[in-house]
Amino acid sequence: MDLQPILDRIGAEMQAAPDRGRVADYIPELARVSTDHFAMAVCTADGQTFTTGAAEMPFSIQSVSKVFTLALALGRLGDQLWSRVGREPSGLAFNSVVQLESEKGIPRNPFINAGALVVTDAILQGHQPREVLGEILRFLREAAGEDDIHINKAVAASELAHGHRNLALAHFMAAHGNLRCPPEATCGTYFHQCAIEMSARQLARAGRFLMNAPGMPRLVAPARTRRINALMMTCGHYDGSGEFAYRVGLPGKSGVGGGILVIAPGRASIAVWSPGLNAQGNSQLGTLAVERLARATGWSVF
Ligand code: DON
Repeated sequence: MDLQPILDRIGAEMQAAPDRGRVADYIPELARVSTDHFAMAVCTADGQTFTTGAAEMPFSIQSVSKVFTLALALGRLGDQLWSRVGREPSGLAFNSVVQLESEKGIPRNPFINAGALVVTDAILQGHQPREVLGEILRFLREAAGEDDIHINKAVAASELAHGHRNLALAHFMAAHGNLRCPPEATCGTYFHQCAIEMSARQLARAGRFLMNAPGMPRLVAPARTRRINALMMTCGHYDGSGEFAYRVGLPGKSGVGGGILVIAPGRASIAVWSPGLNAQGNSQLGTLAVERLARATGWSVF
């Protein structure tokens, strides 16, 4: 299959799309990014990479980072992690507080903010934030096979200055004994992990280990990548996860910077970026673009 004409067509359609969604404005640094941008990159199992649009432009990966911290935490703690965070979709917004109250401070899954804070807290325990951020960057650089991946400190500071909701989640979980580090340290580390910048091409390359295909980087055991994919399918788009599975039929993880990492198991790792978001905080055109790619390639797992 020749993917380049498919990507070129989707890229042209997305550039011309009138309804581009709205940028996240609760992190002021992200509100400055134009909704005009669009990029897509596809790494296939035979080792090729195809791109369209601004595929070399770095963007804030935000919640897409949660896939990589989950892989790290599972590597370090194994299944023990599941005593502190669940594996069910929440059906609520990514930053929702309500379920923690009735569910004893145990977040529904590792991709909502509360769950991702527990995952980061688990990696942070016994270490300094600087060491953990170094470890996350090393993991990403090894996964992508390149070194030019960094944290945007202005984005991290911008989120910290408006981080009351995440701090509230962290303190609430601490009150239930489900946080091991001081909430400020866990949130500070988490804000910096979310502020990592990558291009669509780098992100697609970093996702190759989740494809479970021969010749791809093997950073996590196959049994574990299958589970990470299952969680991406059921929880990766928060209260939009059902809609994403229905439209695209592939595991994906979105970020409020407008990026989405999508895995076609055994076939491809796909990254798409368009900063305008839909009502659930997921990239509006990014979703449409991968929906069209899945239709053109027949890559849906269903
Ligand atoms: O914690 C936050 O609110 C952001 N750093 C990340 C949220 C996010 O990316 C949600 N995804 N669509």
